[in-house]
Amino acid sequence: MGFHTFDPESADKLEDDSRYRYLSREELVAALALGSDRDAAVADLGSGTGFYTDDVAAFAGEVRAVDVQDEMHELYREKGVPENVALVTADVGDLPFADGELDAAFSTMTFHEFAGDGHGDGGSGAETEVARVLADGGRFVVADWSASGEGESGPPVDERYDRDEAVELLEDAGFEVVRADERPETFFVVAQA
Ligand SMILES: C[S@@+](CC[C@H](N)C(=O)[O-])C[C@H]1O[C@@H](n2cnc3c(N)ncnc32)[C@H](O)[C@@H]1O
Repeated sequence: MGFHTFDPESADKLEDDSRYRYLSREELVAALALGSDRDAAVADLGSGTGFYTDDVAAFAGEVRAVDVQDEMHELYREKGVPENVALVTADVGDLPFADGELDAAFSTMTFHEFAGDGHGDGGSGAETEVARVLADGGRFVVADWSASGEGESGPPVDERYDRDEAVELLEDAGFEVVRADERPETFFVVAQA
């Protein structure tokens, strides 16, 4: 569609607690179903400045913060990276992880940049790559701006998927979708590998 990925110049918008209006820490952590031992290996796909990475890290053994732009990792370093978070510079479509290595993965407000036919710079079909690196039964939790929204915030509406499109893409990649909500402005999908 000929547009570029998130501009690091706008990164301060990501460090804003009003974002919890669209996705709370509690619903994200609950949907990941990490268990009480706090030993799960999790990936945040398109981690940006680590706004949600920090939230999940408190409930996981380790989090791989994956972002294709080094500038975003640099901003995360300036903020401070928790000890159990590793910064990984990679495209979601080509993850440097072994088959089944992760217990869970999530992506917040970034699915439209890497999934499907390459809406963004991530190429095509990155959700298949996510399925590869998840253990059997591992969850992939996706929250993103929805094409059914009005565009009050986030990317232009025509650059987004809606819930049903996201479900179709995930099912085509072999995921079983266990929850799929269309909400004002965002969708929320929980899929299982
Ligand atoms: C809109 S920001 C969201 C950041 C973070 N998930 C959050 O909610 O605060 C999107 C981030 O995803 C990264 N990104 C976009 N496409 C990517 C891809 N194909 N692989 C890895 N990272 C990607 C961008 O560099 C940017 O940091």
